[in-house]
Amino acid sequence: PPPGWVRYADVVVIGSGIAGLTAALRIRAGLEASGQLSGQLSGQGGSVLVVTKDHLSAGSTQWAQGGIAAALGPGDSPEEHLLDTLSAGAGICDSDAVRVLVTEGPAAVHELIALGATFDLDPDGLLELTREGGHHRDRIAHAGGDATGAEIQRALVAAIRSTPDIEVIEHAIALDLIPGADGGVAGVTLHVLGEGQSDGVGAVHCRAVVLASGGLGQVFSATTNPAVATGDGLALALRAGAVLRDVEFVQFHPTVMWLGGDSRGQQPLISEAVRGEGAFLVDDAGMRFMQGQHELADLAPRDVVAKAITRRMREQGREHVWLDARHFGQAKWERRFPTILATCRAHGVDPVTDLIPVAPACHYASGGVATDLVGRTSVPGLYACGEAACSGVHGANRLASNSLLEGLVFSRRIAEHLSETLPPRQDPAPDRRTAGLVGAGARERIQATMTELAGVLRSASGLARATGELVEISALAAADEPDAGAWEATNLLTVATALVTAAEAREETRGSHWREDFAEADDAWRGHLDLALDPATGR
Ligand code: SIN
Repeated sequence: PPPGWVRYADVVVIGSGIAGLTAALRIRAGLEASGQLSGQLSGQGGSVLVVTKDHLSAGSTQWAQGGIAAALGPGDSPEEHLLDTLSAGAGICDSDAVRVLVTEGPAAVHELIALGATFDLDPDGLLELTREGGHHRDRIAHAGGDATGAEIQRALVAAIRSTPDIEVIEHAIALDLIPGADGGVAGVTLHVLGEGQSDGVGAVHCRAVVLASGGLGQVFSATTNPAVATGDGLALALRAGAVLRDVEFVQFHPTVMWLGGDSRGQQPLISEAVRGEGAFLVDDAGMRFMQGQHELADLAPRDVVAKAITRRMREQGREHVWLDARHFGQAKWERRFPTILATCRAHGVDPVTDLIPVAPACHYASGGVATDLVGRTSVPGLYACGEAACSGVHGANRLASNSLLEGLVFSRRIAEHLSETLPPRQDPAPDRRTAGLVGAGARERIQATMTELAGVLRSASGLARATGELVEISALAAADEPDAGAWEATNLLTVATALVTAAEAREETRGSHWREDFAEADDAWRGHLDLALDPATGR
């Protein structure tokens, strides 16, 4: 429908996790420092507008457990962090982007601390650092034991709430970019949910849009991601003509608590930091199976561990393996992993005395909307950061705890860039796109298709069947109402189709992309895989 209301902002940030909130705070500061802050725009709202689909803390950041990786400890260096990141990324990280991440990372973490995030300290008052898969050093800073994301989110929300000129709209789904008359971005359409003056579909005209809308975990039936992670930013970017990169590289976290084969939606994560502190995997016969698979054994990069678990489950005809951390004892469980302890107990497993049943589940999109080193996408005026973006730092398999860091570092870079080059305001161009929506009921069928045919283990025949199913879903499942459920299902379908297309094209096994029919990495494929649609035709 045509917009029922119009308002203005200088910059719209879509998403409210670590990337979105850091971007909003720093863009506001950058605009003020460069004398470009419009302030309250004639009563129309803030200069920086944060739009989020649920409440401010409903996204993935809040759920992050292990921590945030940076070369913060004595003896560590950005160079060593770079080597571990490149090695996990299996040959297709962009080394310039990784260098930015690891060199700017430590200062970015200290800024977060200055903003009010409280991290765990050792007895000498220094940051307590732990280890996770793929790291050769202890470099993961954490908070509240295993509640790092919740503490970071708390601090960022407090800062946002107390900063002038930043307006927040909660419970609003971003639908589509409004193209500008001179190309690029003139704004974004929103569907505001709930009861209020601006309910329904409206338009925000602005000079730049920052996508920080997180991941796509809900494309699969079982994921560590919250229900809001429906790939909205990727789908919106694709419809606007932006290039998506490496979307086939979806990471399956090795140790997600197994709640039964029928369990759907968000599943409890058992942080890699638990293995970092000495827990280990055993199979159904009680045998440790990670030794000999990789020099880091249970702390190998997560694609290696997820594959080893999947193979062992198949060999033994089981739906899960076990994680053993009984030797931690009650006191260590309570101090280091209070959230995980409580979650396990709530599900009837006491990790002080019991093995924890675990299996891989969808966790993180290593690819996303392709960006350069200052967060620019291929559409002028559209920026992306955090999980929605593919900045080049993760390659084929993100290194543990690099995600929060990426959100921090690259959102700061976008802010710096915008303070120097805020695009001019544009008139909207006529938009000839016709978006057909599928009904909300398509969501489960998309998830089941993706889990069965495009999950941990893929093949040409399975992916071809997935394509057929997705085509059928798009043909059959038209929405009665263009509501948020229909937009989410449509976005899931768009992203699932892109993922399957890329997974089918990449005929090799690399990082988290595992092809049964192309079991080895192939040097011919050592590079990125880009996808784009023509916004006029949607093809
Ligand atoms: C974990 O705590 O295992 C998750 C960390 C991450 O995804 O980087």
